[in-house]
Amino acid sequence: MLTHYKSQFFKDFKHLHLNNAGLAPISLPARDKILYWGKRFYEEGFYTDHDYMSDVLHARTSLAQLIGCDYNEIAFFQSTAGAISQLCFHFPLQENDEVITWDQEYASNLYPWQEACKRKNAKLVIVESEKNLTTPVEKIIEKITDKTKVVAISWVQFLTGAQTDIEKLAKVTKEKNIFLFVDIMQGLGLHVFKMKEWGVDAVAGGSHKWLTGPVGVGFLALEMKHISKIQPHSVGAYTFGTCDDPTDLFCMPKKDAFKFEAGSKQVLEITALGASVDLILKTTISVIEKEVLRLSESLAHGLKMSGFEVHYNNSSIVNFIPKADSVEKLKSIPCNFAIRGPGVRLSPHAFNTDEDIKKVLAVL
Ligand SMILES: Cc1ncc(COP(=O)(O)O)c(C=O)c1O
Repeated sequence: MLTHYKSQFFKDFKHLHLNNAGLAPISLPARDKILYWGKRFYEEGFYTDHDYMSDVLHARTSLAQLIGCDYNEIAFFQSTAGAISQLCFHFPLQENDEVITWDQEYASNLYPWQEACKRKNAKLVIVESEKNLTTPVEKIIEKITDKTKVVAISWVQFLTGAQTDIEKLAKVTKEKNIFLFVDIMQGLGLHVFKMKEWGVDAVAGGSHKWLTGPVGVGFLALEMKHISKIQPHSVGAYTFGTCDDPTDLFCMPKKDAFKFEAGSKQVLEITALGASVDLILKTTISVIEKEVLRLSESLAHGLKMSGFEVHYNNSSIVNFIPKADSVEKLKSIPCNFAIRGPGVRLSPHAFNTDEDIKKVLAVL
């Protein structure tokens, strides 16, 4: 399974891809899907109508399986920020309500909630991470008061891969009737996630990191019981029906998450994402997770042995404090990386190899 997974990525002998927490290369099935639909749209135009719609539905169903929700609880957007904005700007927040988040959230999660609080005179409660930037669930639970309406945090943080135990948090939020929103961008595809089983109310993420889809798809999964309470931000033919329906001033919005998709969709990107998700499901999360942790652990260990200070939290992300020439050395391979938080972020995926890790360690 793992050998097959690795074979489904381009053998790039020129570059090392170690900024997968930023933008990962897309998988071979994703590339093929784009070529497939490109050819069919070129040759067949409207005659593809039924087929492309059922492929979009297939992508939605596969993604739902990975998230642990139903396919009609998922809506596609252009980015994670767009998906979160749909939720938070239509969430029934009231004056003095509290929304809890971490002090190291990625901007696509932090800014929408900050703005939503501002518009409603609600309070954004920003919880301080531990000194080493870890994000233990207990610190979030401590901040819950009788005014807390929402906890809106990332599962895996983008700076150092710090994780919060979402299953444990969901037990508390469910009991206290607090809405739990999780940005799953840096974890989905790498670790097991069970939205409905754990009792998470909503999640959002996007296509271009660990899911190895092309840039351009964000998604929101919202527990069915909440869908009627959240109005669609964008409204169009698909909020109510299809492009074939006659206009009707009295029509009712759809009752599932499809109502959040106002019009035509990014078919190439969504179906390519679906093809990559199918590859992940076929490989299984446990195989991918084991390989990612093996590679990231060996990178973190090697860096520590070479005298670097390292932040590593049993995720795909390894963040180390660079020496004067570290960045230039990485560029010389060339290896991509990101300057994030305390240092330099490297983030191997399961398609990376021991050779990749050895090259980085050798040059550093
Ligand atoms: C935690 C997290 N959420 C979301 C995103 C992506 O956001 P968007 O799709 O809005 O660009 C990133 C990308 O760096 C991220 O790290």
